[in-house]
Amino acid sequence: MYCNCDDPTWSNFFKFFTKWGVKLGIREVHFTNYANGKREFKQLTLFDLDDLVDSAEDDKKGTAHHWIYTPATNKTIKRELKGNGDFASEECVAILEKCDIVITNPPFSIFNDFLALLIKHKKQYLIISDDNKLSNVDIFPLVKDNKLWLGYTRVKKFLQPDGSYAVFGNKCWYTNLQVSYRKQPIILHPQDLSQFKKYDNFDAIEILKRTATTAVDKF
Ligand SMILES: C[S@@+](CC[C@H](N)C(=O)[O-])C[C@H]1O[C@@H](n2cnc3c(N)ncnc32)[C@H](O)[C@@H]1O
Repeated sequence: MYCNCDDPTWSNFFKFFTKWGVKLGIREVHFTNYANGKREFKQLTLFDLDDLVDSAEDDKKGTAHHWIYTPATNKTIKRELKGNGDFASEECVAILEKCDIVITNPPFSIFNDFLALLIKHKKQYLIISDDNKLSNVDIFPLVKDNKLWLGYTRVKKFLQPDGSYAVFGNKCWYTNLQVSYRKQPIILHPQDLSQFKKYDNFDAIEILKRTATTAVDKF
């Protein structure tokens, strides 16, 4: 597994893998953090493993790291990266190439570039973003081509550096891992299409209301 936008000293993904890694049979989880020298606050250190220390000082210096966590031994090793941990950097892409699945909450502002990188390297992924990305001009073709779909749940609460939670209504999982609802047939209901308005500038009709019939409709 690779969490390529994650500092394990404060990422909840790390917490998840320390709890479930063995049960899920995960061999290694790799983490790289991004140190752009802008972090002024001290992150909450969520974990008490000896070899994990808060990296806020390193971030200020622009020093990023690569951690490898092995669930079977509950040990983490850490080495300094040459660059700042940008997911698109040569050294992070080298880690990406070796991993099977990427799981993270990438920066939403560069989500399209992030996803394009995963697709270019033919990775499986489970990543968080805004649900309005689905209609984005770069993202929708991936849905059409069966390269991306929604995960099972929405992500509602995010733990903030000060310990409080930010609550959102528009964040979801994007994935290309198999999900059971994709095996259910979509029940199509014959409609009189003339009842729907046609767009002037696009060959499509506007359907404002529909009835939820499948798991994904109810999502
Ligand atoms: C929305 S936060 C999520 C943090 C973490 N994944 C988590 O769930 O707790 C996005 C993270 O992406 C990092 N980031 C921003 N630009 C990046 C880049 N070019 N390469 C790698 N990480 C980046 C930021 O430092 C930030 O920690």
